[in-house]
Amino acid sequence: MKHASILGTGSYLPQRRLTNSDLEKMVNTSDEWITTRTGIHTRRIAGRGEENYRIAAGAARKALDMAGLKAEEIDLLVVATMTAHMMMPSSACFVQAEIGADNAHAYDINAACTGFLYGLDLADRYVVSRPDMKILLIGSETLSARVNWQDRNTCILFGDGAGACVMSSREGSRGVVDAILRSDGRLWNLLYMHGPASLNPDLVQNDHNGCYIQMIGRDVFKYAVKAMEEAVVELLDRNGVTISDISLMIPHQANIRILNKLMERLGVPREKVYINVDKYGNTSAASIPISLDEANREGILRRGDLLLFCSFGGGFTWGSMLMQW
Ligand code: UT7
Repeated sequence: MKHASILGTGSYLPQRRLTNSDLEKMVNTSDEWITTRTGIHTRRIAGRGEENYRIAAGAARKALDMAGLKAEEIDLLVVATMTAHMMMPSSACFVQAEIGADNAHAYDINAACTGFLYGLDLADRYVVSRPDMKILLIGSETLSARVNWQDRNTCILFGDGAGACVMSSREGSRGVVDAILRSDGRLWNLLYMHGPASLNPDLVQNDHNGCYIQMIGRDVFKYAVKAMEEAVVELLDRNGVTISDISLMIPHQANIRILNKLMERLGVPREKVYINVDKYGNTSAASIPISLDEANREGILRRGDLLLFCSFGGGFTWGSMLMQW
């Protein structure tokens, strides 16, 4: 049976950098507080011409280029996002038009920060049933449009960006090995964001939180560490693999303290974990593909390497995946 491998990666980070000292002028916070609690120093903020689908298209073009494929050769285009350009059509349809992926069918998936991991699993299932299928999977977020810039609890955490992968089967590489994906909708109200079209208008008017990201940070923190740890342990056990077999772990980049706790509990040495949350903050569904693209372009991935992904986000949604590079 053939599985989905990655043929090319790409990413796009908006030009504008927002530093912790910039945030000190906007809300009652400090560089010291943000650095010690989150590990974030800067984040990128999308400007004019950097809409969700445009940054997605920027990442997609680079991934296609690396894969040596033309946009017309793509059969399926999926965008993982919770900040789509419009409620309808999907960001994926906008990307399709932008890059000319005329022979693809296109749709979005929303699993918050776990969206890209869900997307990798989805791509694998398509390739298992049709090994020659060419899939463009993108994680793209413009979270700066959905955070309340007066709420210091959330506005310091998030950033904008996009990452993309071209996927199909590939000779000599297994690709996706196995995944554990989970969600628990009972915990939705610990991390959520209303949308203009998602509620009865009477309810929206009575909701003083507007359409911004709302979060009970401490609870999210606790669940995130426990859920990702369990998903990784179960996945490794199921596949007879230990941490020493893993070449690189690429976790969702939410917060350095979550990552430190996870490394400690799993016994993963720091040098085996890709971390860039300091540069980009939490870019939700885009954080894993941006990290993967950076690791790839830095030349630290070798054919045959076993990669471990894990993520956690609103829903709650979470999961882990093993992939042979
Ligand atoms: O993909 C998953 C997405 N979500 C996350 O990754 C978030 C997970 N949670 C966290 O990372 C942490 O909970 C935070 C970084 C969000 C907050 O850290 P914390 O240690 O859990 O702080 P806290 O929410 O318990 O707040 C402690 C204090 C409070 O003040 P009082 O009530 O003790 O006087 C907050 O009002 O820190 C205050 N505070 C701030 N102070 C300065 C909250 N935000 C800020 C801020 N600057 N930006």
